Amino acid sequence: MKIDVVTLFPEMFDGPLGHSIVSRAIDKGLVEVNRVNFRQFGKGKHQVVDDTPYGGGAGMLLKPDPLFEAMESIETRERETKKRVILMDPAGKPFNQAMAEDFSKEEHLVFLCGHYEGYDERIRSLVTDEVSLGDYVLTGGELAAMVMIDASVRLLPSALGNASSAETDSHSSGLLEHPHYTRPAEYKGMKVPDVLMSGNHAKIDEWRHRESLKRTFFRRPDMLEKRELTQQEKQWITEFETENSDEESLF
Ligand code: ADE
Repeated sequence: MKIDVVTLFPEMFDGPLGHSIVSRAIDKGLVEVNRVNFRQFGKGKHQVVDDTPYGGGAGMLLKPDPLFEAMESIETRERETKKRVILMDPAGKPFNQAMAEDFSKEEHLVFLCGHYEGYDERIRSLVTDEVSLGDYVLTGGELAAMVMIDASVRLLPSALGNASSAETDSHSSGLLEHPHYTRPAEYKGMKVPDVLMSGNHAKIDEWRHRESLKRTFFRRPDMLEKRELTQQEKQWITEFETENSDEESLF
């Protein structure tokens, strides 16, 4: 996969691209990430990339020409690839795991990161997707792009050490992930559930499924509205409604 990030702050990406799974995916050649500083396409001696809005109003807008020229430079370098051009925008479609899965299957992703009050509207003609990280406003699109790159790159085949771990992630199955435990079996009076040490894999799978459902039921009931529940899951939910659960106290 190829990724281009079009940004005024390329150094911001040093941290996330230089560590852990994303850095390893780059080293393994699974993904190539280029940063394009569109300041280089800014106008005049000061390489200006912003201007005041027509019609008046507060703040500055990103001019169309530097971003169009940045996109042309990518197109010239990578003529052959099919590109998904993703505009970081708090007014875009909210990012989620399904989008990360979709992005991870693409040949070439281009993330456009804005700053200031917004963009000249004509920039939207360059893009295939407008995506928001969530319902809040960041100082720019860079943090949003970093999150989307991280969530997408870890899903590339062989990016994760353990191939099955992406499939059991919270959100990928439509349920939150069940609790996990490692040694010691008891710590400060808190015990690992017996079933996990029983060696009975059918029972362990059942326990994990039930705990995933329980966590989702108490923390994110909205996720269950989109899910067709099995008879077993419906039965467990009636049990949760009468059980005392630790999950409830957090939310
Ligand atoms: N730019 C500023 N805020 C943003 C958000 N929430 N998502 C994506 N890009 C942004």
